[in-house]
Amino acid sequence: MDWGMKNRMSKIIKPDGKTVMLAVDHGYFMGPTTGLENIAETVGPLLPHADVLMPTRGALRHYIPADTDVPIVLRVSGGTSILNPDVLHEGIVCSIDDAVRLNVAGIAFSILVGSSFERDTILGFTEMVDEANGLGIPTLAVTAVGRDMVRDARYMSLASRMAAELGASVVKTYYVDGFEKVVDTCPVPVVIAGGKKTPEDEALETAYNAMQAGAVGVDMGRNIFQSEDPVAMIQAVNSVVHDDHTPKEAFELFTKLKG
Ligand code: R5P
Repeated sequence: MDWGMKNRMSKIIKPDGKTVMLAVDHGYFMGPTTGLENIAETVGPLLPHADVLMPTRGALRHYIPADTDVPIVLRVSGGTSILNPDVLHEGIVCSIDDAVRLNVAGIAFSILVGSSFERDTILGFTEMVDEANGLGIPTLAVTAVGRDMVRDARYMSLASRMAAELGASVVKTYYVDGFEKVVDTCPVPVVIAGGKKTPEDEALETAYNAMQAGAVGVDMGRNIFQSEDPVAMIQAVNSVVHDDHTPKEAFELFTKLKG
C-alpha cells in the first residue's frame, strides 16, 4: 500500500485498530433529517468524540469549520431521494477533484447490490475507486442500503465481499445475526451503520455485538444525533468501540453523562 493511502487509512482507523465514524450525510437523499436541521449545531459538540466525520460536500462547506482536525470521509454517491424509495439508483455526485480540494481522508460510495440498478452503482463505484486509488485515497463502500434488501448474513457477506473485491478499502454494512461470517469473508475492515433510531441500550448492544464479531467500529448517525443526549451517546458508543465496555457498562455511562 502506498504511503499516502496508509497515512489516510491511519486517520480513519485509529492506532488501536478501531474507529467511531459519525455519519451526517443523510441530507443527500433525506433533506433536513431530524437532528441535522442545523448540522453545525448538532455536530460541533460531537466532533471531540468522533474519530471521523462522514458528511456530503455541501454539509462540509456550509456547516463545518475549515479548521476542524477531524478526518473527513466524504459521501460521493447519490442521485435519488427518499421520495423515490423503490428506485434507489446512485451514481457519482462529487468528483475526485472536489474531494481532494476538501482535503478528505477518504470517500464513501453506496453500492446497491441486488437492486435493478446494481450494475450502474458498481460501475460508478469502481470508477471512483480507480480515481481515488490513483491519489492514495481510500474508498469506503456503503452496502445494503435499500428498502427491500434482505438483511441477513448471506446477503451482507455477498455485498461486503463484492465491495472488497471491487476495490473498497473499508466496508460499511448493517449488523445481522451471524455477523462473524460477514467479517470473516471480507478481507478489508468492516464498520456498521446504526440504522433507524432505536433505544440507546439497544443501539449500544448492536455496536457491542458487531465489535465482538470482528467489526473495527461503527459509522453511526441517527442513533447518535437523534439520541435524547447525543454527546452522552457518542461517548457511550466510544466506550464500546475503544474501551471494550459491555452494553451494560456503556449504558450506565450514557445515563451518568446524560443531561
Ligand atoms: C446511508 O447511506 C448513509 O450513509 C447513512 O449515513 C448511514 O446509513 C449511517 O447512518 P445511520 O447510522 O443513521 O444508519
